[in-house]
Amino acid sequence: EKGGYDYFMLKEIAEQPRAVADTLLGRIGRDGRLSLDEMHITDAQLREIDKIVIIACGTSYHAGLIAKYAIEHWAGLPCEVEVASEFRYRDPILNSRTLVIAISQSGESMDTLMAVRHAREQRARVLCICNVNGSTMPRECDGVLYTHAGPEVGVAATKTFLTQLVAVYLIALYIAQVRGTKWGDEVFAMVQLLATMPEKVEQVLSTMGPVRELARSLADVKSVLFLGRHVGFPVALEGALKLKELAYMHAEGFAAGELKHGPIALIEEGLPVIVVVPPRARDVLHDKIVSNIQEIRARGARTIVIAEEGDTSVVPYSDTLIEVPAVPTLLQPLVATIPLQVFSCELATAKGHDVDQPRNLAKSVTVE
Ligand code: F6R
Repeated sequence: EKGGYDYFMLKEIAEQPRAVADTLLGRIGRDGRLSLDEMHITDAQLREIDKIVIIACGTSYHAGLIAKYAIEHWAGLPCEVEVASEFRYRDPILNSRTLVIAISQSGESMDTLMAVRHAREQRARVLCICNVNGSTMPRECDGVLYTHAGPEVGVAATKTFLTQLVAVYLIALYIAQVRGTKWGDEVFAMVQLLATMPEKVEQVLSTMGPVRELARSLADVKSVLFLGRHVGFPVALEGALKLKELAYMHAEGFAAGELKHGPIALIEEGLPVIVVVPPRARDVLHDKIVSNIQEIRARGARTIVIAEEGDTSVVPYSDTLIEVPAVPTLLQPLVATIPLQVFSCELATAKGHDVDQPRNLAKSVTVE
């Protein structure tokens, strides 16, 4: 049931604080240490791993891109991410010391399943992050970490994306804990911060009125660009995907540093550009993206800026400023994605589209 909402998607966006909390539940011990026994991988096996490969499609792939930053930083392991549909058509170098992580909400995406089978044939250890109990992928993998988002009915992934992020953070921090990487104190602090994320997500949801208004005002535009850096780059890709699938509009996400290598030619008078700004603590990245915002605005772009609260440096260059709670950079996708979900949902609704059942799409894609 839609619980009083017009669409399942709206209900599922609203459920995100609970979904994030449930996915953390029981995984952080009283002593602040993580336990993920359900993954069926021993500490000894985790110490043997020398590379991580992530495979997924669509929104789950974006969670994988964010996982790469978390795994490389906290766990100190090389990590590759690839769309599942391409993975087995090259010659991926895998062996028993490779940990493959398949991310799939449904556990049924055929592209991801075929990639899992391919990885297992190469003797890699394969783990999956999945939201559906008893689906195919958890049965075919060596271990599974379930996200506890609850059933997602809307075709567009929303709450399951946030819980996938929680799952990948847990895995990255757990590997760091087991392998004792140099970031011991930071890992402990991050686990504590992760536990506070449901409140931050709630806080973002309570400030979405202006985002809805903005979305309605843009219902007639032809195209929207999304820019980000670091983990804000996959967030930009996710924002663009949501807008394509729900509003049937041209939307593209770019790494902001790539602008000058081509995409800046797209900027014209009135083009809406949504920019995800890294926290001020990442001063170099932060300042670079602020100059990108100045550059595109000077060329006529209408700048819609998502930045942490209190970041006054962006105020002079933002046509619309959307503030999100201050959190560490790696965790920022948990708060920065929400305005993009709300934006697409509202814009698509303003165009009269059924956001639960976008044209040409199915909730789980069981063909290759
Ligand atoms: C986007 C969306 C799709 C899925 C993709 C993978 O909103 O829902 O892009 O993310 O089809 O599906 P799963 O995660 O079930 O493997």
